[in-house]
Amino acid sequence: MKWSKGNIIDKLSWSDTIVNREGKERVAKEIAAKIKDGDVLGAGSGSTVYIALLAIAERIKNEDLEIEIIPASQEISMACNQLGIQQITLLDKKPDWTFDGADEVDENNNLIKGRGGAMFKEKLLIRNSSKTYIIIDESKFVTRLGSKFPVPIEVFPTALLYVESEVRKLGASRIELRLAKGKDGPIVTENGNYILDAWFDSIDNTMERQIKEITGVIESGLFIGYDVEIIVS
Ligand code: A5P
Repeated sequence: MKWSKGNIIDKLSWSDTIVNREGKERVAKEIAAKIKDGDVLGAGSGSTVYIALLAIAERIKNEDLEIEIIPASQEISMACNQLGIQQITLLDKKPDWTFDGADEVDENNNLIKGRGGAMFKEKLLIRNSSKTYIIIDESKFVTRLGSKFPVPIEVFPTALLYVESEVRKLGASRIELRLAKGKDGPIVTENGNYILDAWFDSIDNTMERQIKEITGVIESGLFIGYDVEIIVS
């Protein structure tokens, strides 16, 4: 039996102001134009992905397409619920391709992601996809990775202080425990962990691996050397 219309998920909209909505809508159309009947799509997280999902839902509805989505976060999963898009997990199938946003992109297509705290599942999707599109607006380009955003690091809760001290040894100039909005205390990720936001004056190609090697680190928002195609609005 279907849930009645007008429930709490039907009423949801994006939880924050969407900056550069027009640009995101343009790039969303480009992504939606790529879907083919029967595709399994990995959907990252963030406002750009959300807008792309709206455009994809439109095509599914208008052309009666069979599309399955593997979402990287609860917000994107709920958007799928709302839009009536079929969802599966990585235990069911691999994505034919994945689309995602980013916070920073450098000239070599290295990325910082994780403003929304979903970088672990986003990385998992990208690792499982033979093709990934990163959809951004111009403002996401940087000459130096880490110049506008910190590197988010998802940390097993009781490893917090150990990870902090090890990340400091890697040269972080500032480390903050990410605090929640709408809840007292730290953010608890969808995987039950904390997030440290670490600022670095320089990030080299070994930094992602060095952070990942620290016991207690689940994943970081650094994506160095991934085979991604950047689509700019
Ligand atoms: C989510 O955790 C992030 O990795 C997002 O993909 C990134 O923050 C981009 O978000 P926007 O599309 O909202 O800018």
